[in-house]
Amino acid sequence: MTERETLALQLTKARKRTLRLVEIDDAELRRQYDPLMSPLVWDLAHIGWQEELWLLRDNDPRRPGMLAPDVERLYDAFQNPRASRVDLPLLPPSDARTYCATVRDKTLGVLDALPDDDPAAAFNFGLTVSHENQHDETMLQALNLRSGPPLLDPGTPLPHGRPDVAGTSVLVPGGPFLLGVDAVTEPLSLDNERPAHWVDVPSFRIARVPVTNGEWQQFIDDGGYRERRWWSERGWAHRKQAGLVAPQLWNGDGTRTRFGHVEDIPADEPVQHITYFEAEAYAAWAGARLPTEIEWEKACAWDPATGARRRFPWGASEPTDSLANLGGHALRPAPVGAYPAGASAYGAEQMLGDVWEWTSSPLRPWPGFTPMLYEQYSQPFFDGDYKVLRGGSWAVAADILRPSFRNWDHPIRRQIFSGLRLAWDA
Ligand code: AVJ
Ligand code: FE
Repeated sequence: MTERETLALQLTKARKRTLRLVEIDDAELRRQYDPLMSPLVWDLAHIGWQEELWLLRDNDPRRPGMLAPDVERLYDAFQNPRASRVDLPLLPPSDARTYCATVRDKTLGVLDALPDDDPAAAFNFGLTVSHENQHDETMLQALNLRSGPPLLDPGTPLPHGRPDVAGTSVLVPGGPFLLGVDAVTEPLSLDNERPAHWVDVPSFRIARVPVTNGEWQQFIDDGGYRERRWWSERGWAHRKQAGLVAPQLWNGDGTRTRFGHVEDIPADEPVQHITYFEAEAYAAWAGARLPTEIEWEKACAWDPATGARRRFPWGASEPTDSLANLGGHALRPAPVGAYPAGASAYGAEQMLGDVWEWTSSPLRPWPGFTPMLYEQYSQPFFDGDYKVLRGGSWAVAADILRPSFRNWDHPIRRQIFSGLRLAWDA
């Protein structure tokens, strides 16, 4: 398949996913399910607007677009904070759908006419694929917080786990590691993943799999949420102020609510919907710590036998359903130990998919950082109060995920599909 064909396929796949998520009535699409989230109809038109700007207007907002200027400014994320979006005179859902379809029709034409070797243009298409898929995950977060009877089915089946691997760890011996990627090895990697550079990482241990709900319950039962000593100062202040006593969407009776479905909490599934502060407290209670994002990436991608990075933890082959839980169909993480074939060179499992894993690292640029076409993607967040999450969740599209992919959020957030993996000095 040519790169053009791959990108066309990925665009189409992302769009199918988006349209399936907005297959609900207009009133639902205009609702704000949570103050942290946009109404879904905003995400929809925003996806189309960014695509038009990047691929049809040469990223120049002064070039005329298809929407009137006072309409298009509603879809600029930086001009309209999430909480305010529900009150904007947004396009009606049918207009938003038509707008997105019109843009897509034209961008596929542009893609078709692209010369065979135009890496810069291909990058812009890759960014568009990534952006749409990232918003699909955001829309899933919103739908998960929605109250009322479920709109989505409970999700597709997942492989069985190996519960015994919970609580076990692997050693990552010290030594140099090539952190990050570049335009040659990963042409579609985003600005904050570049440039690749050598770092020396002291020996450490990292958990084979993420922390499970069963393990988290032990933390609760042991008074973890009540004991000041496990928490950082800011973490404790937030715990008290927000009244945290369990992960978000746990109901306090052994059940949880997931996309409106009330169900028993599966003990062997990675815990999700925890803040950074809770992750930090859990790690302290467990006699461990969170990994740095550099440690995390080494455990995921480095192959000590060849002294080179692997494209994916398991090797060079593309993700499949027997290697990782990705793509958003499961609507939940897979039980720990479900993907032995997806292990990294060091034996760490489920590094990609299932849950985003909090790391102890604040979001910062790698040395030599250069902003991409979408200059506001990473840069505005480097000096803010953001912690890095790694590895992607079950809601991330396989098309956009790499071991170098970096996500971030405020340490108090837990609407994201966030969990943790422990680490220890060795
Ligand atoms: C990288 C997931 C933090 O959702 O704020 C979407 C992705 N940026 N549109 C976000 C993003 C602009 C971003 N995260
Ligand atoms: Fe966006």
